Amino acid sequence: MPRAFTPGVFCGFDAIASGVQSRPMKPTDLAFDTVRAVLWDGTSLKLLDQRRLPRETVYLDIPDAKAAADAIREMVVRGAPAIGITAAYGVVLAARRLPADTPDWLDVLGPDLERLAASRPTAVNLFWALARMKAVIGQGGADLPARLEAEARRIHEDDLADNRRMGELGAALMDPAEAVLTHCNTGSLATGGYGTALGVIRSAYGQQRIRKVYADETRPWLQGARLTAWELVQDGIPVDLICEGAAASLMRTGKIGWVVVGADRIAANGDTANKIGTYALAVLARHHGVRFMVVAPTSTIDMDTPDGAGIPIEERPVSEVLSLAGQPVAAEGAGAWNPAFDVTPAALIDAIVTEKGVVERPDRAKMTALMK
Ligand code: MRU
Repeated sequence: MPRAFTPGVFCGFDAIASGVQSRPMKPTDLAFDTVRAVLWDGTSLKLLDQRRLPRETVYLDIPDAKAAADAIREMVVRGAPAIGITAAYGVVLAARRLPADTPDWLDVLGPDLERLAASRPTAVNLFWALARMKAVIGQGGADLPARLEAEARRIHEDDLADNRRMGELGAALMDPAEAVLTHCNTGSLATGGYGTALGVIRSAYGQQRIRKVYADETRPWLQGARLTAWELVQDGIPVDLICEGAAASLMRTGKIGWVVVGADRIAANGDTANKIGTYALAVLARHHGVRFMVVAPTSTIDMDTPDGAGIPIEERPVSEVLSLAGQPVAAEGAGAWNPAFDVTPAALIDAIVTEKGVVERPDRAKMTALMK
């Protein structure tokens, strides 16, 4: 595993300033958005170790593509866009280790590209980012590492800009309500910054359209409890945590205007893979007349997969279900099933918000029009 960088560093303004920012900072850039998970300073890649949150904020130094792939697989970094950004920088690190006169870059970098692609299967942003890097590698040339770095920075910068745009578009859909409910972590920790669903929530809170956020704890990795709650607390946005089992009762109170979630892969017909438990929320939302919003950049849309049945769903070790924080919680001898994601049918989704626009009641024709 990568070695620890600076134990105890909080990722605040300094980290943002040293991360990828191509335009001058505006005061509003930092409104409710002070956390960064992926830092690139031109020479080194540092990842906030999300396994250790909220107890410790430790950045790991990622020296090469293998360490980047390990960090993705082992959940140091997670969330579809952040996985793609990390893989892109992993390719830069791999290319920098090679001599400038490398005859066939694609050949030599092939094993690293494959290792990165094998790290996690569901988030299509990983494969999207690697395809972009591969297209640059195919052009070759002695200055390839510099061009790869420029491409990785673009992927990183564009993600942040897209999230801010989606934040505005998604918040504009919301009538004033007491609260929204979200699942997993889709925030600055899961992206280049600001977040997808959490970006919409940041914008909506900034515009006083909502007064608080309910976050599902999100078993088994507790992304809601450990990450979303932490991120929102850092940024002063009121958050109440619920067990997944409380979602139906919460919706029945009438406090929830929208359920707002992210996505790991959206198929061509709008079916959406996201953290396990999302589908259940969509069913509950429809039953209670609560609207359901998916927020994702177009890099999460996979027009080559016709519908949700074709999305590969990662299954993770059963130990993640049978134990909690390293302690066994199940009866000895019990088995478990641990799919990391589920698929919400498009018919249960009221809006998909992307940086290119909003698709209401998504279907194949509307997704095709968006992606043209
Ligand atoms: O297993 P994870 O933590 O990588 O799962 C993350 C999610 O399911 C997120 O909702 C999704 O990647 C969107 S993040 C902007």
